[in-house]
Amino acid sequence: MKAGEINIDAHIVHPHMTFRHVMACLDAAPIKLCVMTDESGALLRTIVDGDIRRAFLSGSAMESPVSDLPQNDAVYAGADIDPHDLVALFEANPAISAIVLVDDAKAPVGLVARNTVMSGILLSPPHMGQSESAYVRKAFDDNWIAPAGPNLNAFEEALKTASGRSQALALSSGTAGLHLALCVLGIGRGDAVYVSDLTFAATVQPVLYQDATPVLIDSEPQSWNMSPAALERRLARDAAAGCLPRAVIVVHLYGQSADMAAILAITDRYGIPVIEDAAESLGASYGNRPSGAHGLMSVYSFNGNKIITTSGGGALVSDRADLIDRARMLSTQGRDPAEHYQHSHIAFNYRMSNVLAGIGMGQLELLGDRVARRREIFETYRDALQDIPGLSFQDEPEGSRGNRWLTVISLDPDVIPRHPYQLLRELRSIGVESRPAWKPMHMQPICAGCAFEPHSPTEVVSSRLFLQSLCLPSGSTLSQDQQQRIIDCVRAFTKG
Ligand SMILES: Cc1ncc(COP(=O)(O)O)c(C=O)c1O
Repeated sequence: MKAGEINIDAHIVHPHMTFRHVMACLDAAPIKLCVMTDESGALLRTIVDGDIRRAFLSGSAMESPVSDLPQNDAVYAGADIDPHDLVALFEANPAISAIVLVDDAKAPVGLVARNTVMSGILLSPPHMGQSESAYVRKAFDDNWIAPAGPNLNAFEEALKTASGRSQALALSSGTAGLHLALCVLGIGRGDAVYVSDLTFAATVQPVLYQDATPVLIDSEPQSWNMSPAALERRLARDAAAGCLPRAVIVVHLYGQSADMAAILAITDRYGIPVIEDAAESLGASYGNRPSGAHGLMSVYSFNGNKIITTSGGGALVSDRADLIDRARMLSTQGRDPAEHYQHSHIAFNYRMSNVLAGIGMGQLELLGDRVARRREIFETYRDALQDIPGLSFQDEPEGSRGNRWLTVISLDPDVIPRHPYQLLRELRSIGVESRPAWKPMHMQPICAGCAFEPHSPTEVVSSRLFLQSLCLPSGSTLSQDQQQRIIDCVRAFTKG
């Protein structure tokens, strides 16, 4: 069946049937449209409620045959219609709710509803459950609108469990969490901080806030995360030169954990603290522990496009109470423990509000379901596309389990000589949002002049992935029909 197509059988009626019968059929059918065929099974016309109303006004009765209806110009198309032409047909016929698909003998074989074709498909929209609004309602009922409160405390407790950490601090964003992590380590002007190169700008921005110096570490080709080989080479060189970094920020890209065992083995040798940017990987695991449970501190994001959301928010977690206590103090304007308002530290207003923590409580209850659904979406893409020569996916190395926040495909230009942006535009033309992979930090104007360490002396992985990859819609609200439309478009693109 075509993407968005509905089984036609429940919609077929014949001229000898009565209006009563057709009305019952309309009532029961998934799309409120019946398809009338002649004795040979060929399409005669479509019938909607309005046609029946007009027939009654012209004198037909409940028991009259629907052959009373005049001919109409049913909008139909060949069953093999191209998705772009389907969109054009709906655009040309703004009043119709569905298009009948017919075979060569004009016999109806399927029905495509307007909303399945014309409604936009977003990359990773929020997916609310049942209980978020109850938590928020409770905050209103109890007048806990002020920043701290019971939802915030409960959310932090639940986050400890989800992250496998003993300490959690809920914040206004993941970026704030990364900034506080650097602050509590005392990182400032001129300090070097190694950062995963292939990431969203928010990973590196707080390093720049602190006037510290990012050193960008390339990806490895399997998980697309920080290359242990590049990290090791750079650390050895900088150690020899006497300029070790003050911290390493490791990103878990698109929900897949980096190789933390290898990375920590290297950083431990030099005593360098590791901050995990787990903004995208909540709910994933590495070595039987949650992603974000391995470094000194870790950060999650609850931004609107993440696997769960508080509309905007983040968290800093750790097993070190002293670090989180200090971050808590810095997140609330750095007030000293005194009755009066005294401030000895330059600090921030970074705390999550009790209202948003209520959304987080409801969302966190659903984390397992959301991970399961995103993984299912990934598997459907993989099963449907993996036979295409030159198309590949981000690996999930043994011992790790990604949350598959986003499914990203990579197109080998030697095999598929078309740029991923052409696919992005084709998807856009059928109402589907896709996004390029993150543009590596070593290619960003904000990091101009920063040092970059490639995966190997002869191979840069991050820029290759950027140029070859495209993020496909992966939200847990994606329907099977919608996903099939995307798959059909990708397959057609790679053939063309
Ligand atoms: C890798 C990465 N790091 C950090 C962030 C920042 O999180 P937030 O948007 O909550 O500040 C995001 C997401 O936005 C991200 O994808």
